[in-house]
Amino acid sequence: EKGNYRHFMEKEIHDQPEGCQRTIAAYVDTLTDRTAVPGGLDFKAIERIQIVACGTSYIAGMMGKYLIEKLADLPVDVEIASEFRYREPALNAGSLAIAMSQSGETADTLAALRYCQAKGMKSAAIVNTVESTIAREVDVIWPIHCGPEIGVASTKAFTAQVSVLTALAVAAARARGRIDEAEEQRLVRVLLEAPRLIAESIQLEDAVRGIAVEVAKARDVLYLGRGPMYPLSLEGALKLKEISYIHAEGYAAGELKHGPIALVDEHTPIVILAPFDSYFEKSASNMSEVMARGGQVVFITDPDGERHAPAGARVVVTAPRCDPLIAPLVMSAPIQLLAYHVALQKGADVDQPRNLAKSVTVE
Ligand code: F6R
Repeated sequence: EKGNYRHFMEKEIHDQPEGCQRTIAAYVDTLTDRTAVPGGLDFKAIERIQIVACGTSYIAGMMGKYLIEKLADLPVDVEIASEFRYREPALNAGSLAIAMSQSGETADTLAALRYCQAKGMKSAAIVNTVESTIAREVDVIWPIHCGPEIGVASTKAFTAQVSVLTALAVAAARARGRIDEAEEQRLVRVLLEAPRLIAESIQLEDAVRGIAVEVAKARDVLYLGRGPMYPLSLEGALKLKEISYIHAEGYAAGELKHGPIALVDEHTPIVILAPFDSYFEKSASNMSEVMARGGQVVFITDPDGERHAPAGARVVVTAPRCDPLIAPLVMSAPIQLLAYHVALQKGADVDQPRNLAKSVTVE
């Protein structure tokens, strides 16, 4: 039940430290600080990974690509299931198919999974419902342990999916000899810190509420990010569209000058997601470009990013400092809370947005 919260979505945002903690605990061994991925799959024997999914699960899959390719040097393709299933993609039997689906019942994701299996691929599923159709049909089930998600807009399932993918990336990196045992242990300890840091970033709710009053007046909002903050910018835009009915787009920040910069004016808030990582300087220069054209920037960063912000940066949300491995988890709460408080400002029904269903079992 909702307890003291007004909406399931609000409760589920606040449930994330616990949901991620329980999920991470199922993928690591806290006695040895090593990864312990259930299912006994040999990551050395896998040539490629093909992730298929829809909506927020697709965006989580994209985050998985960024994490797994960088850490484990294992190629990952991610595709929207409804496109994948009909376009006759070329596949290789040595690839592993991963169906990402909170419900485990999404029709297009199930069909895309069956397509992969028919090509002789081994399969796995990252699901919240282990009794679901998708879970029943795969070789390996990788559950998330965030508890049932009731709000139509996915929040805690997203961060739990990303938690699993982060653990898989570390495990694959170790299995493929890309990192040694000491580095695996360091990364596992970083991952185990994530729940506490997510809890800290949820504390930004008051700051975000103030910003939401301004954002709620907009007709369009742009979200920009680089590296793992690019998928997160897609997720921020999707959340805002779904529950506040404000048109929003997520873009790779480097794409700004290839089109979207034409949209920048004083009426269009630009949310820039940029912790102080190896991409920061580039994102900061995009921020300056936006400000030079009168754009209102909402800058979501960390303490070092705030210190190095270009002059004139006004609206800043400062998430806790963390290792880049877990930045996608720590930076999720601010964008979810922004969408939530903008929707409240607009009086929208957050848990039951118009035209949307929790589980899409028709194509
Ligand atoms: C967005 C959202 C949807 C789902 C999508 C896939 O907030 O919840 O985009 O992510 O319908 O659902 P599952 O993960 O159940 O396959």
